This record gives sequence, structure tokens and C-alpha cells, in this order.
Amino acid sequence: MSIILAIESSCDDTSAAVIVNGEVKSNIIYSQKIHEEFGGVVPELASRNHEKNIVVTVEKAIAASGIEIKDIDAVAFTRGPGLIGSLLVGVCFAKSFALAHNLPLIEVNHMQAHVLSPFIENREIEFPLICMVVSGGHTQLVLMKDYLEMEIIGSTIDDAAGEAFDKAAKMLGLDYPGGPLVDKWAKEGNPLAFTFAKPRMENFDYSFSGLKTSILYFLQKQKQQNPDFIKEHLADLCASIQHTIVEILIDKLKLSIKKYNVKHVSLAGGVSANSQLRKRFVEVVESCGAKSYVPAFQYCTDNAGMIAIAAFYKYKNKMFSTQDTEPLVKNYSI
Ligand code: KG4
Ligand code: ZN
Repeated sequence: MSIILAIESSCDDTSAAVIVNGEVKSNIIYSQKIHEEFGGVVPELASRNHEKNIVVTVEKAIAASGIEIKDIDAVAFTRGPGLIGSLLVGVCFAKSFALAHNLPLIEVNHMQAHVLSPFIENREIEFPLICMVVSGGHTQLVLMKDYLEMEIIGSTIDDAAGEAFDKAAKMLGLDYPGGPLVDKWAKEGNPLAFTFAKPRMENFDYSFSGLKTSILYFLQKQKQQNPDFIKEHLADLCASIQHTIVEILIDKLKLSIKKYNVKHVSLAGGVSANSQLRKRFVEVVESCGAKSYVPAFQYCTDNAGMIAIAAFYKYKNKMFSTQDTEPLVKNYSI
């Protein structure tokens, strides 16, 4: 029997969840909207907002789970990677809560949690498994051999896929975060209307900075001839950009499924909300004879439910942290 309270505060989502015997009972996410007007996450505002909202978020998560504080067995928190000010709020809260209630602490690597998120709803997933994590901050292909045994087999060497969506959207004059808006406009457009450069990477790594430059130069050139070019071709531009990003992601995924001969493949991270990526993911994974898993949206974007499932496996293995554990900004070995 284990009841764990989990906290996530690595970027701009303040989240708390309660997991009882491996079943996520509540997952409260407070998404900070304040960053929209600045066109990106403002770190200082993010930490101030975490500080303001963390107590009420935890209270809501406990109330929604139906458990009582006295029944909690451990407190889990995101140790990193993330923004230092944001991480500090969650780490300090978890430590204080643990101290006040005399509970053990469990640190969770945010990336490891993303990879484990498909297990919240699917217990039939088997190893080895490849998980493609695509969000605003990360793009990775991870090979999982067991719940807590994972190897990064590919990673972006520059921008993350979500960043590519957001930066392209900004060039098109769309609001932040632009990913969902590109997705929306793309539905009306032709994905083959324009062609953008795809990177040639040898291994399973990704690169999106070349695409960003290619879009920038293309738009500059077109606007010189027709100042209304973007307005007149917005749907086709969105569809073509989305098509390029999705195919870059899918090409590597396909190669990795074949090379590692896995029969289970999952998708995680905020970009997995993209309608075209979801569609292509399922098509390609199934065409390789493997089973595909896409978590519900609340477990794809940053959330404490995924911290809770990671903590559940760590609790089972008695992997506890101490009060002097520091937050880590950069990704660290998982
Ligand atoms: O996982 P997430 O919520 O936060 C990070 O850890 O980054 O991912 C946010 C990213 C943003 O870049 C956002 O534009 C992108 O996910 N995103 C999408 C869609 N929904 C969210 N990108 C493309 N299409 C979408 N429908
Ligand atoms: Zn994340």
C-alpha cells in the first residue's frame, strides 16, 4: 500500500497529484497564462506564480483524491531539468511538507517522468519500449528496458520540436504558444504547398534550427514580392511547416523501431497533442507491427501525475532522497 503526493513545478505549470497503489487519483494542473503576453515563458514570473499557487494546487489535489494528509506515505518532487526558480518552489514545498509530516522524499527526473507517463493509463505495456518525448523543451527518443531503466538513443542537438512550432508560429504572426494554432490553421491547408529543408542527421538525433532558418529566409523572400504573402497563404504555410516537423520526428522514430525491434512504442510531451503527429504516429508504429500508446492530454503536457507514477516505481524500490537534495537545471543521467 502506498500513497504518494507528487509536485511538479519545472517550468510554467504548477501541478500536484496523488497516487494510491499506482493509480493516479488526482492530477491538478494550474497552467500559468501570464506568459502569453510576453510570447514565451518569463522565468521570474513563473517562479512567482508557482509560489502563489502551489499551496492551493496541493490542497485541491488532496481533496480531489479523497485521501487525508495523515495517510500520505511519501512526497515526490521534480528535481530537474527545468528553470531554477520554478524548481526551487516545488523542491522547497516538498521538503517542508515532508519535514512537517515526517515523510520520506522522492526526487523525480522530469524527463524520466514524461517517459513513464503512458504507464498511468496502460498497464499492459511491455518492455522494451521506445518512447518519443516531444515538448517545448525536449525532443528525445528513449529506449526503456524496465520502469526505471532507460537509455536516451536520440535527442535534439538544438531546438525542441515544440520550440520549432512556436518559433515558426511567431514568424507567421501567431500568438504564443503557437503550436496549437499552427495545428488549427494546418487543417485548412495543403501540407505539400511549400517545401522546407529537412536536416540530414546520421544517428537518431534531431535538429530543428535549420528548418527555422529555412522558414525565415523563405518568408523574407516572399514578403519582398508580396507583403501580404503570409496572410494570403497562412493555412498552406502552417500545413507545410507542420508536415515537415512531423515527418522529421516520424522518420527517426521509424528507424529506431526497426533497429531496436521493439513491439511497444509510446508518445509523450505537449507536442503529442498535435493532430497530424498523433495520426502519423499511430500509422507508422502499426505499419512496423508494433503497438502504439498515446497518453491522455492531461498526462502529455507537464503534470504531476507523471511525477507520481515515476515516484510509485521509486517507492517500490525504496529509492528515497534526502533533505539536502538540490534542484538540477540541466538534464542528468536517468
Ligand atoms: O510538454 P509541454 O506542455 O511543456 C514543455 O515541457 O515544454 O509542451 C508545450 C509545447 C509548446 O511548444 C506547444 O506549442 C506545443 O507543446 N504544443 C503543440 C500542440 N499543443 C501543444 N504543438 C503542436 N501542435 C499542438 N496541437
Ligand atoms: Zn516537460
